[in-house]
Amino acid sequence: TKRVAILISGGGSNMVSLVQDMQSGDHPCEPVLVVSNVPDAGGLAKAEGMGVATAVVDHKPFGKDRAAFEAELTRVLEEAKPDIICCAGFMRILTEGFTGRWGGMMLNIHPSLLPKYKGLHTHQRAIEAGDAEHGCSVHEVTAELDGGPILGQAIVPVLDGDTSDVLAARVLPMEHKLYPAVLRNYAAGDRSMIVLR
Ligand code: GAR
Repeated sequence: TKRVAILISGGGSNMVSLVQDMQSGDHPCEPVLVVSNVPDAGGLAKAEGMGVATAVVDHKPFGKDRAAFEAELTRVLEEAKPDIICCAGFMRILTEGFTGRWGGMMLNIHPSLLPKYKGLHTHQRAIEAGDAEHGCSVHEVTAELDGGPILGQAIVPVLDGDTSDVLAARVLPMEHKLYPAVLRNYAAGDRSMIVLR
């Protein structure tokens, strides 16, 4: 079985969907560690409740020294010996040092139809652009922010009167379907694109 570590910063609903799928049986992966850079992230208690080991690597004591933060994160990850790392609402920009160490075995979920809307405020930007469709993407992490090869996308309509929150709430349940599906494929060495609607 492939050992999976998950990086979070917040509520961890995508982390929960990944762990639940891995724990449902008939899965090529096991969740070995959930790491948060935010000490009081809600996802930590959820991971513990599912019996998954957790760790906190707070970025704040490192100030602007991203390399030092990432060195500590790498040290914690190396102890867990992951085969795959899933970023799931992990809200830190990664330097080339980190992506160079873990690239080729690291996935991320991003709440837009990449290559559109890399970065933040994706739902608001899709509304302001007048897009008819929006969604989320799972991609391999490379040195380019939100830029690696896309492995899956889930598409939802943008409806008249949508606010950012309403649209986010339409996308999130699709994230919870897409990410576990991509992880299963990826763990099996299958990088064909998954599209959900
Ligand atoms: C998700 O919508 C995820 O796509 C997004 O943050 C949310 C985390 O929710 N990620 C990013 O914006 C990455 N730049 P969760 O903690 O409940 O999974």
